[in-house]
Amino acid sequence: MDIKLHDKNFEPFLSKEIISKAIDTISNAISKDYQNNTPLFLGVLNGSFMFCADLLKAYNHSCEISFIKLASYQQTESTGTVNELIGLNEDLTNRTVIIIEDIVDTGNTLEKIIALLDKQPIKEYKVASLFLKPSVYNKTIPIDYVGLEIPNHFIVGYGLDYDGLGRNLPEVYKLKSS
Ligand code: IMP
Ligand code: MG
Repeated sequence: MDIKLHDKNFEPFLSKEIISKAIDTISNAISKDYQNNTPLFLGVLNGSFMFCADLLKAYNHSCEISFIKLASYQQTESTGTVNELIGLNEDLTNRTVIIIEDIVDTGNTLEKIIALLDKQPIKEYKVASLFLKPSVYNKTIPIDYVGLEIPNHFIVGYGLDYDGLGRNLPEVYKLKSS
């Protein structure tokens, strides 16, 4: 059934089953690579909260979880926009950090997060994203674990929002072309 959020109509796109399968695939791949390593999963808020919960429930090995948020603010006209990672309280020395993203679109957000994480004395970082829009992604950072590649649709649900709404939907909808 179609739904309406604010002024826009959305139609069903990805079922709970498809999402759940994609999460199992990611969880198995990470288990295979890191089950003896106790990785630190770093969820990027707000969009990844639901994905993080289900991924961590599927991941049956030693691990830690923490959450970050990318904040951008204007400093002065001359120095421009400054990015900051909020919420990072862990000692990341020598840790394997797995960044958990809901979706990678252009990759701008991911690039900023990694630039900030690179200042930390971590051992290595990997990136896991539930969704990837390959036709829009224009960075060279490898997305190590991808749940589903999707066309360039605007989607909502399962953590993703349209202007604040839709994050609570258990399945994913796409914007209807009118
Ligand atoms: P990027 O910086 O272009 O890669 O976009 C990253 C962020 O934009 C994601 O973490 C989402 O918060 C948001 N975003 C990108 N595509 C969508 C979409 O289709 N629906 C909802 N939010 C999106
Ligand atoms: Mg996001």
